[in-house]
Amino acid sequence: MILIVGGAGYIGSHVNKMLSLNGFETVVFDNLSYGHRDFVKWGVLEEGDLGEIIDIRRVFQKYHIDAVMQFAAFTYVGESVEDPQKYYLNNLRNTLNLLEVMLEEKVKYFVFSSTCATYGDPNEIPITEDHPQNPINPYGKGKYMVEQILEDYSKAYNLRYAALRYFNAAGADPDGEIGELHQPETHLIPLILDVALGKRDDIKIFGTDYPTPDGTCIRDYIHVLDLADAHIKALERLQNGGESDVFNLGNGQGFSVREVIGTAEKVTGKKIKASEVGRRPGDPPVLVGSALKARELLGWQPRYNDLSLIVDTAWRWQQKL
Ligand code: UFG
Repeated sequence: MILIVGGAGYIGSHVNKMLSLNGFETVVFDNLSYGHRDFVKWGVLEEGDLGEIIDIRRVFQKYHIDAVMQFAAFTYVGESVEDPQKYYLNNLRNTLNLLEVMLEEKVKYFVFSSTCATYGDPNEIPITEDHPQNPINPYGKGKYMVEQILEDYSKAYNLRYAALRYFNAAGADPDGEIGELHQPETHLIPLILDVALGKRDDIKIFGTDYPTPDGTCIRDYIHVLDLADAHIKALERLQNGGESDVFNLGNGQGFSVREVIGTAEKVTGKKIKASEVGRRPGDPPVLVGSALKARELLGWQPRYNDLSLIVDTAWRWQQKL
């Protein structure tokens, strides 16, 4: 069985669905603090907390776990600056707890949700995996520390891992069964779509004086199902004898905040009111990744390689909320 830690959350639930549709048996482990019970429509749900090592041991003793995927993490960059302990305890210590039980139980395959935030302010675009990692906030630092620890564990113990560095996850299950639902929501696309739905008055553009063609930040948006597909490919590679490795997951194409708003206007057919406000601290001007390595070594090919396709799936999901 595949243990999906944080499988009631946004990305974990999409991976759970895809694994299940591909014939894998899954167990979701989640404390439902941010996850949603009704996102666990496949496999079994085991409620528990990574902060309690006995909760983790209980699951490993109950099921025969062949591999673990770890999605459970807090992801608010700003909050990580204000309350770093919250992030280091949850994202770093709790992942160590999980690894501790994996080692006890001799489970050797681990797929880890990492992030482009481990690169910090990039000095070269597109960012490749060998770009220096200088994370600039506790969220990115915690993810980076886990990556470093995985490197050591993999050398010392019989553990093989894939660390997947996501760029900007977006979109939703096209069947409309699950999607993005954060409380509070801070991500650009769902906020824009809330404006289209009349749930918010306007979208605030954080900074219009960046050194980019239209002055707004550029990001590499990648569909959640393409992320899910990469997880399965990374898992299968490990199970087929592949070495521990790290992979960027992005489309390799950047869109500015204004371009995302323009795309959302086309997809929804609604005018989206925007207001220009100051920069949000800690936002790099441009984050675009090269995922050539994942394409070559995993045979991964993102299908949602057009921003309007990504926004369209998010729009269909959000209209149902
Ligand atoms: N933005 C706005 N207005 C908003 C929200 C966002 O202008 O109301 C802008 C941001 O400044 C940024 C872009 O839209 O330039 C995307 O912002 P998101 O908050 O959607 O995503 P981030 O790029 O900040 O964050 C993503 C992930 C994080 C991860 C980070 C790595 O969601 O988990 O990438 O940099 F840490």
